[in-house]
Amino acid sequence: MRVSASLSLAVLALTSFTAVSQTPAASKAQLATPQVSQVAQTPPMGWNSWNYFAGRVDDKGIRAAADQVVATGMKDAGYVYVNIDDTWEGERDANGVLHTNAKFPDMKALADYVHSKGLKIGIYSSPGSKTCGGYAGSLGHEEQDARMYAEWGIDYLKYDLCSFIGDVLEKQAPNDKAAQMRLMIAAYDKMNKALKATGRPIVFSFCQYGWDAVWEWGPSVGANLWRTTGDVTPEWDRIYAIVSQQAGLEAYAGPGHWNDPDMLEVGNGKLTLAENRTHFTMWAMLAAPLLAGNDLPNMKPEIKAILTNRDVIAIDQDSLGKQGARIYSDGEVEVWTRPLAGGAVAIAVVDAGDSRYSTHPFHLNLHKLGLTGKQTGKDLWTGKTVELTDNMPLELASHDVLLVRVDKPKGHVQ
Ligand code: GLA
Repeated sequence: MRVSASLSLAVLALTSFTAVSQTPAASKAQLATPQVSQVAQTPPMGWNSWNYFAGRVDDKGIRAAADQVVATGMKDAGYVYVNIDDTWEGERDANGVLHTNAKFPDMKALADYVHSKGLKIGIYSSPGSKTCGGYAGSLGHEEQDARMYAEWGIDYLKYDLCSFIGDVLEKQAPNDKAAQMRLMIAAYDKMNKALKATGRPIVFSFCQYGWDAVWEWGPSVGANLWRTTGDVTPEWDRIYAIVSQQAGLEAYAGPGHWNDPDMLEVGNGKLTLAENRTHFTMWAMLAAPLLAGNDLPNMKPEIKAILTNRDVIAIDQDSLGKQGARIYSDGEVEVWTRPLAGGAVAIAVVDAGDSRYSTHPFHLNLHKLGLTGKQTGKDLWTGKTVELTDNMPLELASHDVLLVRVDKPKGHVQ
């Protein structure tokens, strides 16, 4: 049985549509000037411990993840970072030096191990006194912690707002949201400067759930990526809600600074194969960081096939660095496009519902995408050549996606 979106080419209707140009609102928005960044020139790819292991992460698990990133071919497909999320932290000593807890006996040795595999290593902290998991944060120790990360050989820091809300924002500026936001921005800038002062290239990942339109100011205080929403969960409704919340943010992403709709849940929970495929497709369309978060030593072949689909990864990692945009929707079916280097375009059609059948299928309006006439492309989930024609009926399985790359589009792509 075919598992990918079923593309019906049987009926080629001749109806023509008036071209409707829908310029995304954000393209008119003011952009912060990003700092020059040598890291994250394409969206970071790797694996992070949180989504599957949460507090069960330890030294052994990180080594196993690094081994598996190599053994599964994920490294060859572009996955580089092995990121330790929350729960590695121990106590600070009399000199303020933060020690690891018993799960991580020697962070430098662990970093050396990950590096020996040709991979990079990431870590996690908070600008507050505690992390979200209640472990020690960096408040008042930013420079010291940044220096320690650099000494260990850390390549990536996820910095999670968490207790900074109660520790600082609500204490120092009660009932003044604007003052709270200024304090938050200053806290991120403080760690930005501390990281820069180490001289080590470290990807700086903001995790403050999109507060205060972080996409407008994050790059100016060193963000290489910034979460745009609250946490992802391995559930279709949550994943689809997050996708919807990215529409309009495309103007803010580019090499060195990316919108982060949160880490991947591919292979987690009870997501169907179609849902996993759509999740991965849309993260690629969104130029999102691809940080797998599944149980790598027990990864099923069909999940590995999704995570290592080179054609889809190439969309995510496209050198033009332009994030895709939602061009139109028709009920529960959405059409997104992403401009690619060399004038190519990726087109994703997502069926977020479960009620469109051949009796009243969705019809693809190429005019709305700025395309004129028949388009020849590659279906990136079947690997087959496909032809797209205006008003063609598309029958997609529930929560499934059609992803087509057109290298030589005809028309003026949106
Ligand atoms: C927050 C973040 C998650 C994860 C946890 C760890 O919820 O958004 O991604 O880092 O904290 O405690």
